[in-house]
Amino acid sequence: MSDIAKKIAELKKQINLHAHRYYELDDPLIADSEYDRLFQELLQLEELHPDLVTPDSPTQRVGGKPLAEFNSVRHTHPMLSLENAFNETELHDFEVRLQRFLKTKQSLSYMAEPKLDGLAVELVYEKGLLSFGSTRGDGQTGEEITRNLKTIRSIPLRLEAPPNMQIPELLEVRGEAYLSLEGFTALNEQRLAAGETIFANPRNAAAGSLRQLDSRITAQRPLDFFAYGISDTTQISCNSQEELLDYLDKLGFSINPLTKFCGDISQVVEHFSHLQDIRQTLPYDIDGMVVKVNSFELQQRLGSKARSPRWAIAAKFAATQATTILQDVEFQVGRTGAITPVAILEPVNVGGVVVSRATLHNSGEINRKGLMLGDQVLIQRAGDVIPEIVKPVVEQRDGSQKDILMPENCPICQHRLILPENEAITRCPNSHCPAQRMRLLIHFTSRAGMDIDGLGKKAMEQLFNEKIIQDIPDIYGLKVTDLVLLDGWAEKSARNAIDAILASRETTLARLLSALGIRYVGEEGAGLLDEHYSGSLENLLRANEEELLEIEGIGPQTAKSIIDYFQDPEVVKMLLQLKNFGLTIASSKKSPEQSPFAGFVFLFTGSLDGMSRDEAKVRAKERGGKVASQISQKVTHVVVGEKPGSKLKKARELGLKILNEKDFAELLTANDDTKKSPQLSMF
Ligand code: IVH
Repeated sequence: MSDIAKKIAELKKQINLHAHRYYELDDPLIADSEYDRLFQELLQLEELHPDLVTPDSPTQRVGGKPLAEFNSVRHTHPMLSLENAFNETELHDFEVRLQRFLKTKQSLSYMAEPKLDGLAVELVYEKGLLSFGSTRGDGQTGEEITRNLKTIRSIPLRLEAPPNMQIPELLEVRGEAYLSLEGFTALNEQRLAAGETIFANPRNAAAGSLRQLDSRITAQRPLDFFAYGISDTTQISCNSQEELLDYLDKLGFSINPLTKFCGDISQVVEHFSHLQDIRQTLPYDIDGMVVKVNSFELQQRLGSKARSPRWAIAAKFAATQATTILQDVEFQVGRTGAITPVAILEPVNVGGVVVSRATLHNSGEINRKGLMLGDQVLIQRAGDVIPEIVKPVVEQRDGSQKDILMPENCPICQHRLILPENEAITRCPNSHCPAQRMRLLIHFTSRAGMDIDGLGKKAMEQLFNEKIIQDIPDIYGLKVTDLVLLDGWAEKSARNAIDAILASRETTLARLLSALGIRYVGEEGAGLLDEHYSGSLENLLRANEEELLEIEGIGPQTAKSIIDYFQDPEVVKMLLQLKNFGLTIASSKKSPEQSPFAGFVFLFTGSLDGMSRDEAKVRAKERGGKVASQISQKVTHVVVGEKPGSKLKKARELGLKILNEKDFAELLTANDDTKKSPQLSMF
């Protein structure tokens, strides 16, 4: 193999690895800019050596392949990618290329749109109704995430046609789903508190949230959406991108307010530098600006290449990176005893923010990045929020750098640390370690836990340090008189906190499990367990490891951790104490699939004797059935009372199942499980 071929093979391997980490695991190992650089290098080499381009090269596709858990949907029109321009000259080059292709010397007009760093999605509207939505996936085929997209409030579920305008039968709207910086920070705080891994940047957080199999979790994430296009512009009467955005706006979509019409390329450049200037002040992350030829007629003439349209380009901002010195590494003890190394940096300004610390996640990360104390390091604000070390500048080493040693003992309780086999995380195994205890208590009352108002991080630190609360049950024994004696508490705030504690005693299994901080059981896992055990702690306590493993989403580590946790005599004692303090679990509703009438669609016609129409509907819905008002093939049971009318005739024509009132009453009684599980239970 020639040297060039070797280099290309190596680049492909690297890019494939990082693309997998980024697109599929949402857990990148390198900075986006580093990835872009590798990709550009490969593109350039392939351009010089077209004979070395293989069909499996990462340049031949856009993004990653869809995950197996979601249904795949093929886009009717491929969702293309964009070529990049990194500076003003490259923007001018873009116009020159356009003019050459169009054989014109005339200047062109453009739409310049902020390039949000989120997830490209497609929304399919049939007759104005959102029928399904998907991710971009590899550009040809994406993942069907309709239920998740429907949780985003800025996505209209039904389109209202503006006066004198029509909505095509089928309209495929494209845009960017994203998470605001505020939403991102709050989400990571919650995850940290739950002992879950944090998202590296808002893009990954948005992707992770949209790829949730449980859309209830997605619904709790503050996702948002800006529309920027449709799949086929020949379908509508707009003549330009500017008109299209106006049309989408009228249909009810959010259009980014920083979108600008530019009469020529110099205005494009101007808007680019304006966006670069105000970038840090925006409530969401943008990584550049998308420039589109405004006229649809010209767009049609320009057409597309394999990966990207000729009529658009992404003008990318330079990454906010800087170099500084790694002065020291501190080791923090987390709620589950995990030891997290934190880099102490010589303070440096990165894109307007002074950075003096960066997380190193775990000891594996230190080795992977090959860091040494005293190294000059390249750092960046990932997604412009959490500072991270990209890599050491190895060329700058002068021999004074020292290895980073992991401590052998816990920095707080001095207990010997352990690094379990096959794990990346060093831990303090002493569950009485004060650092762990305090973090657990903070987590217990936090939003991700029991969500007790008035007992935030500061209050819990104070109560722990004052030795008023040392264990979870102590929280429920707290009295107003304990609090008012402390600094910063008044009668009113103390009363409010106690009321919130008392109110929190009636809880759900999901909330309690999440609050207890069981290793590997975060909010998501807690939700799965709640659903599987229908909200009953007794049932969960009776489970063995094999049974837990049957739950989709619960892996061996989690199953073992749950069993170990509930076998611990101290845990048993704690649960009993909580019970004595009046903690009760409201049994959650059954999941729709387990309901006796799951999949049944009832239609009622005529008047019923024994119950009102409304009551009949409630009884059907209680058991998981649906109620239709119009007759159609979707109806599975037609319930006929006195004087049924024309619906009965139609039902017969369609061959639907027909029940009289007595049959319906019998069906209800035979499937009455609404009284089986007690409403409130603890053990
Ligand atoms: S147009 C054919 N417009 O950038 C045109 N894309 O590589 C393709 N993006 O992840 C997309 N803001 O989701 C377009 N105003 C905008 C955009 C935008 C962000 C993203 C897009 C995709 C990537 C394109």
